[in-house]
Amino acid sequence: MHFQWYPGHMTKAKRMMQENMKLIDLVIELVDARVPISSRNPDIDELGKNKARLILLNKADLAEDRWNDAWAEYFRAKGFSVVKVNSKKGGGMKSIHSVIQEACKEKIERDRKRGILNRPVRAMVVGIPNVGKSTFINSLAGKACAKTGNKPGVTKGKQWIRLNKQVELLDTPGILWPKFEDQSVGLRLAFIGSIKDEILNTEELAAELIQFLNEYYPGVLEGKYQVEPAADAYVMLGQIAESRHCLLKGNELDTEKAAILLLDDFRNGRLGRLTLEYPQ
Ligand code: G4P
Repeated sequence: MHFQWYPGHMTKAKRMMQENMKLIDLVIELVDARVPISSRNPDIDELGKNKARLILLNKADLAEDRWNDAWAEYFRAKGFSVVKVNSKKGGGMKSIHSVIQEACKEKIERDRKRGILNRPVRAMVVGIPNVGKSTFINSLAGKACAKTGNKPGVTKGKQWIRLNKQVELLDTPGILWPKFEDQSVGLRLAFIGSIKDEILNTEELAAELIQFLNEYYPGVLEGKYQVEPAADAYVMLGQIAESRHCLLKGNELDTEKAAILLLDDFRNGRLGRLTLEYPQ
């Protein structure tokens, strides 16, 4: 399967992020807990150098918890602060504020030595499309969403959300695009729905997912759709179509419909909590 994918506004978004980086102390980077490496853009390490760094394993509710823990360890070992979150339901949010203070303790200490007390930490949320940036900002800001408005010294038009006395958040997240010279990265992003389905062959994608699940999560498809294991992924897709009554006129199996159903079930966690890549 070959992807051709040229995100239109990438250069502009990156330039904007570079500008915004000058204003902040902390980068809050969201990754998808199911694919924590594939859902990162490697440019962020360069863009965010000299900043405090917090990685959020978002959609942790959709990934296996033992792997969430393993990934948290992996990133901590690389010097990031890490929190597992479910932005949709608010899971993990309670610890965010204390982790932010911890992640920024050097900056806070530097300020203190210069006699600057109580200057809030300024943070920006970044991540690839669909990783949950808006959901997270809404969940974290909640009702405290009062914008602080423009301030002297801040580029005109920037809006800050005051979360509390200690933290201000830039109200617009930084959007980065995933990078994939490696087709398997593109595939994982397609599985989670981060690449638009219109540019992909749905049945081919579903067949790849079936192959992955048979290898890493044997029994999941059988349990969910009452199908028999088969070496050929397209045979299993046909079985799913049959068991879910995905039929065309003349009772022919509608495997495209079955593919959409399978991908949708996977993306919404209806196949259970599944992790697609593992720390090395
Ligand atoms: P973005 O700003 O980074 O582009 O992402 P956004 O917040 O729009 O979230 C993309 C989708 O991911 C949304 O689903 C959102 O509900 C879902 N989402 C975000 N965080 C989590 C999480 O921690 N767990 C789960 N399970 N889902 C999460 P949607 O299908 O576009 O909308 P909806 O049907 O949920 O309303």
